[in-house]
Amino acid sequence: MAGTQGNQGNSGSHHGSSQANQGNAQPNQGNAQAHQGNPPADEPTRPADQAREAVVEAALGRLDLDAKARLLAGQDMWSLPALPEIGLESLVMSDGPIGVRGVRWTADDPSVALPSPTALAATWDPGLARRAGVLLAQEARRKGVHVLLAPTVNLHRSPLGGRHFEAYSEDPYLTGRIGTEYVRGVQAGGVGTTVKHFVANDAETERFTVNNLVSERALRELYLAPFEVIVAGARPWGIMTAYNSVNGTTMTEHRRLVDEVLRGEWGFDGINVSDWTAARSTVPAIESGLDIAMPGPQTVYGDALAQAVRDGRVEEATIDAAVRNVLRLAARTGILEGAEPAVTELPGPVDGEALAREIARRSFVLVRNEGALPLPEGHRVALIGAAARDARVLGGGSATVFPARIVSPLDGLTAALPEGTLTYAVGADPNQELTPADQGFELRAVCRDADGNVIGTGSAPNGHIQWMGSDLPDGVTHAALHTVELTGTFTPRESGAHTFGIKGLGAFTLTIDGTTYFDDVQRPESDDRFESFLRAPTPRAQAELIAGEPVDVTLTYVLALPEGIPMPVVTFTLAHREPQRDPDELIAEAVEAARAADTAVVVVATTELVESEGFDRKDLRLPGRQDDLVRAVAAANPNTVVVVNSGSPVELPWRDEVAAVLLDWFPGQEGGAALADVLTGAYEPGGRLPTTWGSLTDAPVTQVTPVDGELPYSEGVFIGYRAWQKEGRTPSYAFGHGLGYTDWTYESVKVEGSTVTVRVTNSGTRTGREVVQVYLAPTETDSERPVRWLAGFAGVEAAPGETVEVSVELPRRAFEIWEETADAWAFVKGSYEVEAGRSIADLRVTTTIDV
Ligand code: BGC
Repeated sequence: MAGTQGNQGNSGSHHGSSQANQGNAQPNQGNAQAHQGNPPADEPTRPADQAREAVVEAALGRLDLDAKARLLAGQDMWSLPALPEIGLESLVMSDGPIGVRGVRWTADDPSVALPSPTALAATWDPGLARRAGVLLAQEARRKGVHVLLAPTVNLHRSPLGGRHFEAYSEDPYLTGRIGTEYVRGVQAGGVGTTVKHFVANDAETERFTVNNLVSERALRELYLAPFEVIVAGARPWGIMTAYNSVNGTTMTEHRRLVDEVLRGEWGFDGINVSDWTAARSTVPAIESGLDIAMPGPQTVYGDALAQAVRDGRVEEATIDAAVRNVLRLAARTGILEGAEPAVTELPGPVDGEALAREIARRSFVLVRNEGALPLPEGHRVALIGAAARDARVLGGGSATVFPARIVSPLDGLTAALPEGTLTYAVGADPNQELTPADQGFELRAVCRDADGNVIGTGSAPNGHIQWMGSDLPDGVTHAALHTVELTGTFTPRESGAHTFGIKGLGAFTLTIDGTTYFDDVQRPESDDRFESFLRAPTPRAQAELIAGEPVDVTLTYVLALPEGIPMPVVTFTLAHREPQRDPDELIAEAVEAARAADTAVVVVATTELVESEGFDRKDLRLPGRQDDLVRAVAAANPNTVVVVNSGSPVELPWRDEVAAVLLDWFPGQEGGAALADVLTGAYEPGGRLPTTWGSLTDAPVTQVTPVDGELPYSEGVFIGYRAWQKEGRTPSYAFGHGLGYTDWTYESVKVEGSTVTVRVTNSGTRTGREVVQVYLAPTETDSERPVRWLAGFAGVEAAPGETVEVSVELPRRAFEIWEETADAWAFVKGSYEVEAGRSIADLRVTTTIDV
């Protein structure tokens, strides 16, 4: 094990040390793209573009009204119809963003699972985001997918946002930089993206209907900003309009933001697809620039759209504009005959497992280290926590993919540490919910018709069945299918009372070891049309079982189509929970293990009931007895390292009582291997916080619950660190914070034109990587503007003792505000501090510029 003990300090520099470089700076002129320092997107040359447009026009001219209207609506959950008459194949879309699920929602169609988007943003490395994109394009091609439903570039407005883990940051600049390269990576592999969810879809409560009231200034400076930058820098082939309304208009009908801003001002030339079921009307949607209504086949487009033209309610030219966009997308992805795809030379193959592991270790944020990490060689380690064994690697909802393997922290450390030096204890199990039957279950799905005849059999790698549209076991049709029997055996790994449960809506029968425990109907409990996909399983049986002795298990489901889903779907789950042990006993056991070891590593985690699409969080606490567990272990062993396995902020009330705290996000399928890399010191943790971590009571912006359907963004432009600084509050861990295994001294900062040059020295004893962050602060306080904001950053590597220089371009936009009275950007002249450092709260060198 290599490496020095971590050290938070820095010898040479301190906050405010001013490098005299008073002078006139010239912020980078030009558009948002140039400001980001991005080279132009990998676009085909103009003649190829023109040739493609000609093929698109010719194809459009050969389609009749009905075919055109059909092309604008899903034929099923994930695809558009093929139109053989013009040589157009069916265009397939799939979620996104950490993997490519494909058209099948099941564990027997596995996908590489990368770390959560919060983790990708924590790398502060656009190059890594680009490589992630290239891998995802490779995955998409493998699965016959032409468009990835990603990235999610909504902002971390409130830490309670249920899909917080699925977005990048509270800062629009960081979000834009990561999102731009992600899109460029995917599209460099010839696969389209839909940047989502346009716009202000920052929470889940009443998500289909909420009317977010957002000032134009906050829209421009915060929520629209990442979309604008990505459109300029990566020319995305698609965008997804959100469920919510903004200032009274639902986003799939928001002509001003879509037609005038996105297409008009920014020159976006891709498709606009509705979020799933977000298209609510025929005429207002098509006239507001919504190209595709998903999913189908029952939609507000298709026949209804053709009829609207026949009735004279919509001009055919309006439909033509949408069809043109769809055909252009098809041409770019290579499924329109005669058109050259946008990418003719694919990038070389990417090793998905290796990349997942690299991103994970580069994303882990070491927020505290009192010398406990890296683990000294030969240390006996007690690994503690339910999530250390049953790893939580991704967040819930449409971002779910099914990886072929998951490396848990226990697997990772077992492989990395010398034999006999690792013990394991559960300590506390926060999983109150039941999870899909998996460990110890051998299941298959038997399909029957209404007369009880077997018409087919499907594989069931776990207890979750989800067949959508035509994705059914061989020989089975929706018309004939009446009952699915999920049946097989279960061999428990522990003796005791095992709980079994059912997720899904409709009539179920649950039989275990010959006893029928449930024979009734599960009815909806909310009006969320995706309830059958998103709701937690309901416990329905408890059976005393003996470890190692198999029992028969059967769950029978009589099909019912979930309401509001415009296609046939079979979705239900047999869920299970291990016998629950006495919580005090579990903690006592963990304390014993910690006492007998040199270092205790406690993995604490959120659960799927805490972080998922479909609902917001109620608080930021770690569920169950995990806080008690950490305190008890820390009292027993001064070398207690806590690993926080969550996609978004949680409160860490014991953080000053432990020796180290490492945030590992939802780390993706290779998370445990990456964790071992970092704990042993084979690699340093590379992450910096993309979002402020603090307690819920201190957090300035938390509101996610609409009142009478409205959610006012009354804080204006003050979210995230902008709000913490305005309120003068100190969070637990500041935006940008994160430690490595070496030390850095900031030598100087200077500004020439729009270029900021920062000199840093690696003053530690091992090679490391620093994320040099540059903030801009107006010297005269102005209550309308944040105290300071992120204006640029760059990663730099250096060997011990080495001094390196890094350059960061100041974008013109960093000096601009949106002036509502003028309805335009205004450059704010004056004097600014240019501050460089390790986080927004640890600025080491400063200079003043006048612009
Ligand atoms: C989500 C989208 C997702 C879509 C398809 C929606 O409920 O909001 O992010 O792409 O479903 O799964």
